Amino acid sequence: MLKPSAKNIKDFIREIYGRLATAGTANLSRAPIDSGESLARALGYDTSKLSIPQKAWELFAGCGNPLEIIGLEPDWTVIDLGCGVGIDSQLAAFFLEPPGRVIGIDLTRELLSLAKEYAREHPNCHWVTGDGEQLPLRQRSVHLAIVNGSFNLMPNKEQALAEIYRVLKLGGYLALADLILVGDMEPITDGFEDAWSWCVAGALSAREYDSLLKAVGFSWWELKEKSNYGPLAAAHLLARKGGGD
Ligand SMILES: C[S@@+](CC[C@H](N)C(=O)[O-])C[C@H]1O[C@@H](n2cnc3c(N)ncnc32)[C@H](O)[C@@H]1O
Repeated sequence: MLKPSAKNIKDFIREIYGRLATAGTANLSRAPIDSGESLARALGYDTSKLSIPQKAWELFAGCGNPLEIIGLEPDWTVIDLGCGVGIDSQLAAFFLEPPGRVIGIDLTRELLSLAKEYAREHPNCHWVTGDGEQLPLRQRSVHLAIVNGSFNLMPNKEQALAEIYRVLKLGGYLALADLILVGDMEPITDGFEDAWSWCVAGALSAREYDSLLKAVGFSWWELKEKSNYGPLAAAHLLARKGGGD
């Protein structure tokens, strides 16, 4: 099967994630992947500790817990790229104080409106419909970019990383969680849309991350495998843009 064009990929992502918002549950996939609150708990989120609505946890669809690998400063500007229902955005917002703020960015409008509704208590959360490959942000304006389970969904990964690099301040961080390729995967002949939407088909190897991060200019990074699922592994990546303090 031929890989669909980038435009087609973004169209079916909007459709699949739009459906997820309407259904109120992230458990729509044909893939045997856990989702929602039980996935969040398995990834180390304390789902009872903070006042995030249960309905929001049910729409959690991340691949890891990126805030676990970075300590925030209260005055940071944080972007949550492919924020979905905005769980990581809200968790960051609990910690930030003005002028600190979070900007959740996502392709799927329906999920963003739910994110806005569920984060009513956080005036420091802002929501923007946008594409990770063309960020609607000024250069060097962001201290931290969180990317949880959305990088594999972006067709042009070098462009997405270059955009993150562009908007990060000197010394700024990227904290990313996604599935990475650690073995040989059978070619996907059926259910490509599902496999792509659930971070499986678009996964890169550690070596591919190394070369892309270097190509766009990052000066330091650390990629750690968390749990293994055959040819794929859940991983956390922390990368830093050089310069700054
Ligand atoms: C697997 S979900 C993860 C959502 C969220 N980060 C979480 O942890 O629940 C992937 C999200 O990425 C969004 N997405 C996919 N491609 C995108 C792109 N090119 N730009 C912005 N968002 C994108 C989807 O709409 C979806 O909400």
